[in-house]
Amino acid sequence: MPDSPAVAAKSPSSTSLRIDGTRLLDRLDRLAEIGGEDGGVTRMGFSDADVEGRAHVARQAVEAGLTASVDAGGNLLIRRPGDHRHSTRPPVLIGSHLDTVANGGRLDGAYGVIAALEVLQTLHEAGVESDHETIAVGFANEEGALFPQPFWGSMVLAGRLDALPSEPEDYAGRPLRDALARAGGDLSQLKTATWSPGSLTAYLELHVEQGPVLERLGRTIGVVESITGRIHMSVQLHGRAGHAGTTPMDGRQDPLVVAAGLIQAVQTMATRENLCRVATVGRVEVLPNSPNTIPDSVRLDIDLRDSDPTRLDVAEHTVRQTLADLARAGNVRATIESTVRSAPVHTDPKVRDTIAASAAELGFAQETLPSGAGHDAQVVADIAPVGMIFVPSIDGVSHVPVERTAPDDLVAGAEVLLRTVLKL
Ligand code: GLV
Ligand code: MN
Ligand code: MN
Repeated sequence: MPDSPAVAAKSPSSTSLRIDGTRLLDRLDRLAEIGGEDGGVTRMGFSDADVEGRAHVARQAVEAGLTASVDAGGNLLIRRPGDHRHSTRPPVLIGSHLDTVANGGRLDGAYGVIAALEVLQTLHEAGVESDHETIAVGFANEEGALFPQPFWGSMVLAGRLDALPSEPEDYAGRPLRDALARAGGDLSQLKTATWSPGSLTAYLELHVEQGPVLERLGRTIGVVESITGRIHMSVQLHGRAGHAGTTPMDGRQDPLVVAAGLIQAVQTMATRENLCRVATVGRVEVLPNSPNTIPDSVRLDIDLRDSDPTRLDVAEHTVRQTLADLARAGNVRATIESTVRSAPVHTDPKVRDTIAASAAELGFAQETLPSGAGHDAQVVADIAPVGMIFVPSIDGVSHVPVERTAPDDLVAGAEVLLRTVLKL
């Protein structure tokens, strides 16, 4: 922590250390080729492309003289050999996630992991000795795009095993157990991947902002003060399939009509009713999805976010009540499950100060801001002080192929990450 007696990193002077910006940008380009298509990147957690991407990063780590391993939860961990020798304090963990949404951007998550690798390699090449080990992590399945369990890897690491399904399946019913094994994990051994409270000096995550604030204000560095709370709900609707031309309108049991009402109601909750900050239905699956058949069943996923846990609870309750009313009126069977409940978290004030001081020393204009996106940091906050560094997103967009950040800003963020690690 910044106010503990930081053992100055041994020679060379830590303040003269610099990230190799060209290598950082080149590595981001190369990683984006894995799962790259239609201008975007698709490396959904535990897909073949994701496994390939993780292996690629692990190889780069090993080529750099570092070690790479995968824990039972599928998290990629990169270490400096012998780095723990001088440790008198618990490790500092730095990183983000390597998976993406479907047809997402090249930076969300990947940037934080590649920058963490660069920090480790920079420390290693300079022979820096510190009183804490620094470990880089690529968290598994942060997005939950294929296996609907966002924050999977960080939940395992933080020991939230009770909140995870025992035999998770992807949207098509394929078991996570097999996919996890292919990625080097082991569903039966998740306990071995957990870290206890107090076992880390801090967790630091560098990420693109994914919103417009830094760009609008002309700031290079964002110091994140809080991360939004989030509830993810999965809804299943079962009606009665039938012929679109011969089944009378009267008495139909159409789950898609109920779904449409629910989607509208979810939006209204965040707009007219102001029950939560944002509310989204981003995924709908219709079966059999045939133009001249009344659907048999619909699955949809709801994402609710707010910085106030009480408001989130009210919004969740309202969704359940609205669904029950709509399902009754439409004569369809409905089930609903909250698969992620993540409370809003504040980043650690001392870590925040250290990030701010690092940015100031490097001469970067900075702003303190909240995060509307979810991050592994909000889960790791269960067991460690956390901090997050943002860099500007061009046009404020993310989860889309055109997600971009200026190269200089990408390098600046990595410099701030490096300096913060040295100062912690
Ligand atoms: C994570 O990417 C999120 O959905 O905020
Ligand atoms: Mn994301
Ligand atoms: Mn992310």
